[in-house]
Amino acid sequence: MSEEQQNGQQSEDLGQRTYEPPEEFAKNANCQDPEIWNKAAEDYEGFWEGWAKELHWFKEWDQVLDWDPPFAKWFVGGKLNASYNCLDYHIEQGKGDKQALIWVGDEPDHQQTYTYNELLTEVSKFANVLKDHGIGKGDTVSLYLPMIPELPIAMLACARLGAIHSVVFSAFTPDQLTERINDVESTVLVTADQSPRGGSITDLKENSDAALGDAQSIESVIVVRRTGEEVPMQDGRDEYWDELMQNASDQCEAEEMDAEDPFFVLYSSGSTGKPKGIQHNVGGYLVQLKATTMWTLDMKDDDIFWCTADIGWITGHSYLVYGPLLCGGTTLQYEGTPTYPDNTRWPSVIEEHKVTTLYTAPTAIRAFMKQGTGPLEGSDLSSLRLLGSVGEPINPAAWVWYYENFGGERCPVVDTWWQTETGGIMIAPLPGITTLKPGSATKPFPGIFPDLWDEETEEFIEGAGSGALTVNKPWPSMTRTLWQDPERYKEEYFSEISDEIYYVEDGAKRDEDGYYTITGRIDDVLNVAGHRLSTVEIENALVNHEAVAEAAVIGVEDEDKGQAPVAFVILQGDQEYGEDLEKDLIGEVADKAGKISRPDRVYAVEDLPKTNSGKIMRRLLQNIAQGEELGDTSTLADPSIAETIQEQTQQQMS
Ligand code: WTA
Repeated sequence: MSEEQQNGQQSEDLGQRTYEPPEEFAKNANCQDPEIWNKAAEDYEGFWEGWAKELHWFKEWDQVLDWDPPFAKWFVGGKLNASYNCLDYHIEQGKGDKQALIWVGDEPDHQQTYTYNELLTEVSKFANVLKDHGIGKGDTVSLYLPMIPELPIAMLACARLGAIHSVVFSAFTPDQLTERINDVESTVLVTADQSPRGGSITDLKENSDAALGDAQSIESVIVVRRTGEEVPMQDGRDEYWDELMQNASDQCEAEEMDAEDPFFVLYSSGSTGKPKGIQHNVGGYLVQLKATTMWTLDMKDDDIFWCTADIGWITGHSYLVYGPLLCGGTTLQYEGTPTYPDNTRWPSVIEEHKVTTLYTAPTAIRAFMKQGTGPLEGSDLSSLRLLGSVGEPINPAAWVWYYENFGGERCPVVDTWWQTETGGIMIAPLPGITTLKPGSATKPFPGIFPDLWDEETEEFIEGAGSGALTVNKPWPSMTRTLWQDPERYKEEYFSEISDEIYYVEDGAKRDEDGYYTITGRIDDVLNVAGHRLSTVEIENALVNHEAVAEAAVIGVEDEDKGQAPVAFVILQGDQEYGEDLEKDLIGEVADKAGKISRPDRVYAVEDLPKTNSGKIMRRLLQNIAQGEELGDTSTLADPSIAETIQEQTQQQMS
């Protein structure tokens, strides 16, 4: 029963509601032109060129777009630097004393702010430290850091030198770190002694040491003292950040980068066990971030912008670090969780720092919703003027709850659809113009051309309908390639339909008004609390355990996390299934693939449902785990197995 029904209210389809932009908001919005979609469609290269002119270039481009499907080059011949655009450019315009970064620590009284001048000093110093460690243009640097200011500082320092950063999410395991270091062959790793979060501590240096045994390319490890706890330091390899910074010069010129030089690599889960090294290049990425931060997130000079995502994911890269700083804004970085020391923490951060824009994930909104308005009541949230959602589908009830309770019915909600691969926002409202419908990401950003593909008729769908989401024209912040693997890039994204059509791997619906609602992944990727996880990575972790012969992982609907992983395993001959073994297997996944990948349940079954070609029919396992009808089993190599699996699972469920 839904909460609404429990409250005895009349159940209404909230997705059918519409919300006009509030008058005050519309009057001041950065984009107020209802014709903008048509204008951008008439000349989309010209549209993006207009945005490129908003950045600082050492040299202008000769050509806006060179499209050699599936490989795009944007602003060809242009020269620029990301760190220059994020820092120096604003300082030249008199914003040196403006707050650039507000850092809020895990403990409520632990804070630190940086003006643009101060941030430039730190970035230049650390760029010089990296230089002393042999880093220059085109070199890769791995960053395994918690949510502390040193992370954006290190990213901007790499950008200043033209070095390519690869940020590894600090909750990843040593194995995951090893794999990501080995793929980019970095020589420097930046990490921290420990990471406090939500009142508990992760030993990052210890994890790094465990990872480095099998990651031989690393020559230097730079360690930030976050807690100051004594950690093992290896002579000749490990040095402390603060000691190196003491003697570093605060002058470091920004390298002139080609628009198409690689900017960074960020690993993301795909349908295979090997994470994809998603590569973004400098020019186009920055141009789209500037455009979307200004128009979708409506950034204003006096905004305090809080993106709650971890920088270890693309949302943190794009809209905690680069987007807000490119626009000369003030960005807030929060180290902790929503519930530490208690569940009033987020609202009190909003009140204390007068946050104007909150950009978060549906999972967080649903977690608040579950607790009712209590945690919000003690804080003044009237500084908020815009709310954003990202990372997973937002159900209309959570959307409306967010709008009413965080936003006090005064703040538009922008539900923004995009991916690591797209670099920046792709489908989202323009909050001063778009009529909102709860649960819908609404319309493409101007200059972006999504479509829907009917997998059965193999045609694009006209008008309203549902199908596989595609993007039919290149866009500036699109992934350029997978790290050193252009073939896999083509295969993963441009082989399904043609080499000109980007196949998203998300399902979507489009209504009569042309509004898009994203329904979720259609490949073997899970979206757990907004985190992208590969089923294969979890399966690999399970078969790594001596008790397991074979494993299949699926996502089941979860009220809180959107999706939750559930595993089905075939045990080795002599193994006995029971609570202890299940716990053990869940622990194995946490160790190998990280805590967020932990399955909610592991069921032991006699066989897995496979088609004649040996592919696991995940749909069927999903039906079984969700207690639904089996559905069509005729494509199974052995249809009778479906019922056996169902019976075994049901026994173990209780
Ligand atoms: C999902 C995160 C519905 C989608 C920026 C996509 C969404 C995957 C939305 C990318 C949204 C992201 N509505 N689903 N507003 N935003 N997704 O690469 O399935 O971590 O393919 O990028 O998240 O996840 P990624």
